[in-house]
Amino acid sequence: MLRAALRRLGPGPGPRLCARGSRGCRDDGGGGGGGGGEGEGRSGRACFTTPIFYVNAAPHIGHLYSALLADALARYRRLRAGPPVRLSTGTDEHGLKIQQAAAAAGVAPAELCDRVSAQFRALFRAAGVSVTDFLRTTEARHQRAVHHFWGALRARGLLSKGLYEGWYCASDECFLPEAKVTWRPGPGGERRPVALDSGHPVCWTAEQNYIFRLSQFREPLRRWLRDDPRAICPDPFRRTVLQWLEEDLPDLSVSRGNSHLYWGLQVPGDPTQTIYVWVDALVNYLTVLGYPDSEHAAWWPATHHVIGKDILRFHAIYWPALLLGAGMSPPHRIYVHSHWTVHGQKMSKSLGNVVDPSTCLERFTVDGFRYFLLRQGVPNWDCDYYEKKVVKLLDAELADALGGLLNRCTAASLNPTGIFPEFCTSCFPCVRGVTSKAQPEDYALVRAVSALPLQVEHYYENFQIYKALEAVSSCVRQTNSFVQRNAPWKLNRENLSDARWLDTILHVTLECLRVFGMLLQPVTPTLADRLLSRLNISETERGLQDINFLPRYHGQPCPFEGRRLGPDTGLLFPRLDKTRARATKIS
Ligand code: MSP
Repeated sequence: MLRAALRRLGPGPGPRLCARGSRGCRDDGGGGGGGGGEGEGRSGRACFTTPIFYVNAAPHIGHLYSALLADALARYRRLRAGPPVRLSTGTDEHGLKIQQAAAAAGVAPAELCDRVSAQFRALFRAAGVSVTDFLRTTEARHQRAVHHFWGALRARGLLSKGLYEGWYCASDECFLPEAKVTWRPGPGGERRPVALDSGHPVCWTAEQNYIFRLSQFREPLRRWLRDDPRAICPDPFRRTVLQWLEEDLPDLSVSRGNSHLYWGLQVPGDPTQTIYVWVDALVNYLTVLGYPDSEHAAWWPATHHVIGKDILRFHAIYWPALLLGAGMSPPHRIYVHSHWTVHGQKMSKSLGNVVDPSTCLERFTVDGFRYFLLRQGVPNWDCDYYEKKVVKLLDAELADALGGLLNRCTAASLNPTGIFPEFCTSCFPCVRGVTSKAQPEDYALVRAVSALPLQVEHYYENFQIYKALEAVSSCVRQTNSFVQRNAPWKLNRENLSDARWLDTILHVTLECLRVFGMLLQPVTPTLADRLLSRLNISETERGLQDINFLPRYHGQPCPFEGRRLGPDTGLLFPRLDKTRARATKIS
């Protein structure tokens, strides 16, 4: 039943697209397969991506958040029986920003890249991000992909050389129109031009560059967003992009003279020019799929990008336009999230308030910190980080509500045999009658937990992982009330009727816990494993198709009834007391 319902909720075929401004709609370099705008409809494959991270500074919690969102989406998708799911991430190592950061640190760019890239890799490993490919843009396979992609644009007549001038912001790695530049006092008091949005310094640049005919993609991009209203999610970000498409859409400079930008990929056949770092970086999403070899065609465009709001224009305008220009389809989905602030302030090195994610993982445990970021992070708006909030949330929801529930209902005092107890259909008949001990609120619990998997599915589809967690948490609370209300500890096991009802209360509670454990797997994989192992649910019984909540209530056999519970009787999530939640290192 759930399977059919999940199929109903599942994504339909992806957009059918064709760059009418460009020629044809075949995936360049591909040999058929998933190309030509089929999205993920035909193969059911999915590749989730994080942005690739700049290596000018160490990772912070905002970076980890981006990666965890993509990880939770990928892990959730893997719970569905189906084709393999990929998750790619990596580091963005070329460009002026890295060149300048290396110079400021007095090291060679390659050395800085090796060091910081390793930090990102280690962080993601420590945080349980289920990466299938970690790409560095300095790898040879990536250079091959970028050069091939460049060749596809050139072959389609979309690149030309000419004088390009404008304000360039090295920190944001982009040109800015006059209206997006303002003058503010610099550190020495002198007024200097800065980017209006980010406040980063900008510089006037005038040079011969390769220029991409971005302006001719306005209509194809609009059509893409009109035809697939779910292409960019949440919807306010799609509307922002549509608004941008109403404004001026100038052609885009896609190279820099290598006299001032040497740290990057050379334009094929022109040693005087370096490829613009954003073109280089965006192609990473193809490199990880094996582009330009034909294998990529089985995966593209079944790709779901997770990005922060600051890089929306690059992903929702430049990238789809470049793809259309190269004869390929835009990505299947772009999920956009907002930013984390710290005590109400933007995180920045100069303010000294950058929160180190590794310290947080240690302090709050991996699952605890994953749960916090994904439960509290709301993609539509910025979220504020402070430690008290982490401790309060984790103690309330994971230690007390969920852990307490498991502890109570598996304790030897209530369940001396350590066996998954029997459900009594006359105590809890599916139609309430004279033999029924269950009250209307108990029926409400069964309804709520039965509806939960579909609700969660809907929230994942809509990039609302925080709502999925909120829904699980609300059901956990409801289950605790069920136990509290029916007070199994007051029942007498010596009395047959009491014993049956006691076992039924425990059976229902353990079934609820099983559902919670299964649905929490994408966010708190270790904790969910511990919970499910305590219930002795084997690894082959943990997919979405296995949920089938409370089958005995519906007159079906329950495979868990009578099974011995798992041996681990430890606490599911120990409370984070004050000593454990001492100040997190601020770097
Ligand atoms: N290198 C580019 C992305 C290229 S993708 C082809 C880049 N790198 S970044 O390191 O600056 O940012 C990576 C991601 O981290 C972005 O999605 C960005 O939005 C996110 N975050 C950076 N600061 C953040 C917060 N304070 N909060 C949440 N996410 C934030 O941009």
